[in-house]
Amino acid sequence: MAEDIKLCHLTDIENGESAGFTCPVKGRDQLVLAVRKGDQLFVYINSCPHIRIPLNLDTGFSDEGLHGGKFLSLDKQHIQCSTHGAQFQIEDGFCIYGPCKNESLEPVPVVIREGSVYVSK
Ligand code: FES
Repeated sequence: MAEDIKLCHLTDIENGESAGFTCPVKGRDQLVLAVRKGDQLFVYINSCPHIRIPLNLDTGFSDEGLHGGKFLSLDKQHIQCSTHGAQFQIEDGFCIYGPCKNESLEPVPVVIREGSVYVSK
């Protein structure tokens, strides 16, 4: 049975804000982005569907696997590519504007237990 990896505590991300992480997904370390909406955390592989680069410009790593990066539009209603301005729906990663319109970010399923967020390895 797959082992769950703790990504973060839900409250590590302020409500309505986003964060980037490095996390094992499908057997290898990958950049992921997360957006919190209330008690939910929407997590995606941090790779744009059209040219497969990270959506944020700042992908510097910290010791804790959490790294900086802005992933949201100014009004914080969409995930946004820092380079091209493409916008994705937070809830399903579907691109509504930009060069990858009608494509989607790859979701990373998570479970939240006692306030901690886990990714299946
Ligand atoms: S890398 Fe795809 S919209 Fe920027």
